[in-house]
Amino acid sequence: MKAVTCEQYGPPEVLKITTALKPVPKAHEVLIKIKASTANAADCNVRGLTYVPPGLGWLARVMLGFSKPKINIPGSVLAGEVEAVGEAVNTFKPGDQVFWIGPEMGAYAAYACRPEKGALTLKPDNTTFEEAAAVPYGALTALYFLREKAAIQSGQKVLIHGASGGVGVYAVQLAKYFGAEVTGVCSTANVEFVQSLGADRVIDYTKEDFTRRNEKGDIIMDIVVGKTSFTRCKHALTPKGYYLAVAGGLKDMLQMIRTSMGSGKKVVFGGGSESEKKEYLDFLRTLIEAEKLKPIVDKSFPLENIVEAHRYVESGQKRGNITISIGHP
Ligand SMILES: NC(=O)c1ccc[n+]([C@@H]2O[C@H](COP(=O)([O-])OP(=O)(O)OC[C@H]3O[C@@H](n4cnc5c(N)ncnc54)[C@H](OP(=O)(O)O)[C@@H]3O)[C@@H](O)[C@H]2O)c1
Repeated sequence: MKAVTCEQYGPPEVLKITTALKPVPKAHEVLIKIKASTANAADCNVRGLTYVPPGLGWLARVMLGFSKPKINIPGSVLAGEVEAVGEAVNTFKPGDQVFWIGPEMGAYAAYACRPEKGALTLKPDNTTFEEAAAVPYGALTALYFLREKAAIQSGQKVLIHGASGGVGVYAVQLAKYFGAEVTGVCSTANVEFVQSLGADRVIDYTKEDFTRRNEKGDIIMDIVVGKTSFTRCKHALTPKGYYLAVAGGLKDMLQMIRTSMGSGKKVVFGGGSESEKKEYLDFLRTLIEAEKLKPIVDKSFPLENIVEAHRYVESGQKRGNITISIGHP
């Protein structure tokens, strides 16, 4: 089968199109014919440690591979069709259209086997495979931080720093869905786009520093690496407000420990595989099918143009998500 491998850390060009053996499902596994994947910040980290937050380079190498990537075939998200199931699988059958996310990677290929019990579920009926693939990375992260960590409530004031990105486009939509009053922060070129996602107000970071506004919010979700901090945002939070350090580094990790001991403002750091649960994906599917949440795809690239796709992600020009289409002869 066709696949993309990554045998060293480096620029997008380290991704090589090759062939690999088609996998065979074990008893509890599902064999998926992959139709779409994504190129997101997590995929760029596995390939080039591109978005590793300050102070966490050592941790990233422990997790992803010290001198070269541990994972041979990258690709953190897939959408596709079940082709076969292991003898102990009872929740999926051949022909089911599914989507998945997980740290095992392996989605830059024609086929993959995935455990039945992982973050694997039926894809929304009303999406293409590309649209479905554009959801898990950003929307699960947004859902996890807003609902599971900050317990978002209707009527709260929520600010999303990085509202036009892969995570931000879902954070804006989900915060609105939960009844919050939402302010998005992005560049001039994306102001109208973020408004179109439902934001009540949009701040253009090239014209204004949101931390200098004399206003307080219940949640500040920071999805931008190294541009602000809890210290700078603290005064803009209500007494029990949350600073969600989605793109946070070592400093945020330490501040989370410190603030967790008091009863005041809290820093939340983490995410990753904690957010990758089947039940959360099922929740997102119901929202998409009810047209309460929209998958946001900027561009789609064929697997053969994977280098170009990663370059585009790292250009800083993208809006929302980039998907990868995987054709089958
Ligand atoms: N903790 C977790 O579980 C988790 C999960 C997913 C992602 N992340 C991390 O979150 C980060 C963002 O991911 P993403 O996929 O959303 O990235 P992305 O798609 O590249 O989006 C980046 C966002 O940052 C904004 N931005 C760029 N420069 C800025 C500046 N100078 N000031 C303010 N905003 C600026 C962009 O706005 P414009 O495009 O309008 O400039 C865009 O909204 C990455 O570091 C990623 O590793 C963490």
